[in-house]
Amino acid sequence: MQALLDALKPGQEDETLARAIDPRRLPAHIAIIMDGNGRWAKRRGQLRLAGHKAGMRSVRAVIETCAQLGLNALTLYAFSVENWKRPRTEVEMLWRLLRTYMRLELPELMRQNIRLYAIGRLEALPPQVTEDLKEAMAQTSTNTGLQVNLAINYGGRAEIVDAVKALVEESRGSTVEIDEAAISAHLYTAGIPDPDLLIRTSGEMRVSNFLLWQIAYAELYVTETLWPDFTRGDLLRAILDYQKRDRRFGGLGANGRPPVDDRFSETLGIPAR
Ligand code: FPP
Repeated sequence: MQALLDALKPGQEDETLARAIDPRRLPAHIAIIMDGNGRWAKRRGQLRLAGHKAGMRSVRAVIETCAQLGLNALTLYAFSVENWKRPRTEVEMLWRLLRTYMRLELPELMRQNIRLYAIGRLEALPPQVTEDLKEAMAQTSTNTGLQVNLAINYGGRAEIVDAVKALVEESRGSTVEIDEAAISAHLYTAGIPDPDLLIRTSGEMRVSNFLLWQIAYAELYVTETLWPDFTRGDLLRAILDYQKRDRRFGGLGANGRPPVDDRFSETLGIPAR
């Protein structure tokens, strides 16, 4: 948190936002559905490529800010198992962009002590992409700061299927205990705490097959802002909104009372608060 304050100029809007954040109640893990690159480009009469390139700037800003805040993990939805339906040229261009990102950003990730990790069906990616990802993961594997998970060729349902398959294969024909802990331990995100906050840009109210298992109790934050326009300030605003939430995890609220809506208490015969 201090690293962020040190990086901000006094009086700047982002500084005011950062100072309003309670450092004791930061989300440990933020997940982001980065949506709206295409619309951003279209509104400017540009090619979708321009939108994805501009989206890279937001990726950089968000990673840097999460690292400065001292968060444990950031998971970015970069390419879904359904994204193969896009025109071949766009898909190829996304791979080129990803490879360029890794080449250019590795020194900076090392400097910021960031660990890069990829989740998804990586074996189905073009071989050079898989190779570069493995290389970047190996190089950053001993970094101890923020862990950035890039979800690539990722699908939440596919992940659960892969986890169950791995569990069954491990059992080698003998009976196997399948419980929540066993499934969690076989997901791509094994060992990484579930996201506390899920952000989606560009206004769509859906989770699009992202981290289906892990977001069971995540707080959702949807903004109309298109991904290339998403700034450090927008991230800080999302965190401030998150800090206003009363996370109950299916239990009682922070004040110890059951979450009963006063409007219904009379009909249910429950005394109003
Ligand atoms: C969604 O916008 C964005 C993507 C499918 C790809 C996200 C990629 C980047 C931000 C750049 C590369 C990222 C990394 C991590 C190196 P969209 O194309 O679905 O936008 P639209 O809904 O407006 O068409």
